[in-house]
Amino acid sequence: MAEEINWFPGHMKKALKMIADQLKLVDIVIETCDARIPFSSRNPELNSIISGKKRMLVLNKADLADEKVTAEWVEYFRKQGITAIPCDATHKKGLDLIRKNAQLLCADVLERARLKGRIGRPIRAMVVGIPNSGKSTLINALCNRKVAVTGDRPGVTRGFQWAKSDSQMELMDMPGVLWPKLGSRRSQLCLTITGAIRSEVVEMTDVAFEAMGLLMERYPKEVSSRYDIELPGSDDYIDDEYERFLHAAKKRGCILSGGRIDEERFSVLFVDDFRAGRIGRISLETPDKPVN
Ligand code: G4P
Repeated sequence: MAEEINWFPGHMKKALKMIADQLKLVDIVIETCDARIPFSSRNPELNSIISGKKRMLVLNKADLADEKVTAEWVEYFRKQGITAIPCDATHKKGLDLIRKNAQLLCADVLERARLKGRIGRPIRAMVVGIPNSGKSTLINALCNRKVAVTGDRPGVTRGFQWAKSDSQMELMDMPGVLWPKLGSRRSQLCLTITGAIRSEVVEMTDVAFEAMGLLMERYPKEVSSRYDIELPGSDDYIDDEYERFLHAAKKRGCILSGGRIDEERFSVLFVDDFRAGRIGRISLETPDKPVN
């Protein structure tokens, strides 16, 4: 599937250096990741660069993730000393918790400023995260207006800019683009179906076929009810994965003239369904069962 994907290491190095250079200007780093894949949607290099800095992890797109699993992730990160906040940046849910925790985590900085007479000094936060994890949407939501440029592309490392939030925060729009570490094939699959790896660089039928297999493992009821597939154990259960995939395509009317199944159309439809949350609220990684 995505074995040919390779980020140019120079771009990544540059992005990490930009982050390291700007760290002194901020009080806290807010890292966004995709709540459905908190392992795969983070950049492991970031840890060493921001160690020693106050930080918060935003489990974004929590509206698309399994609520119970997201709660497990919050606990998992809490045990590692990382404050993780579930958030739906699109619908502005979780923002108050982000603001409140930023105040809590930066209480000492604010107190020092207060003692110097700087009452109401805003918290300065750097927002980082891999493409499509919702950095721009989060910044816009926290600022209550459109401020950030969306749409990171491989190879593009942008400069930074400050955005003023209406609630005592100044947000530094990502100084550079971080890529996820491309781990196992499964990890790449997760990044692709969630939209972090762009669809143009992968074979969509391979992605959809493998994704359906993964979803059948983790959320069989949801897949079964959306695509009219019998569950394992029932008499009509289709054991063969490819036959099952074709059956689902047929049920969704993806048929070409002559009766051949339109696998490509179904693949796009399936991935779109997943990305929009139409199959259900699905978490592809759990703390006890990472895909890597
Ligand atoms: P980025 O700056 O980190 O690259 O991400 P950006 O804010 O551009 O968000 C990427 C996509 O994810 C956008 O969809 C955005 O609307 C969506 N998104 C961001 N936060 C959330 C969230 O909390 N919940 C949900 N459901 N969606 C969220 P898009 O404009 O349709 O772009 P695309 O993914 O189709 O390219």
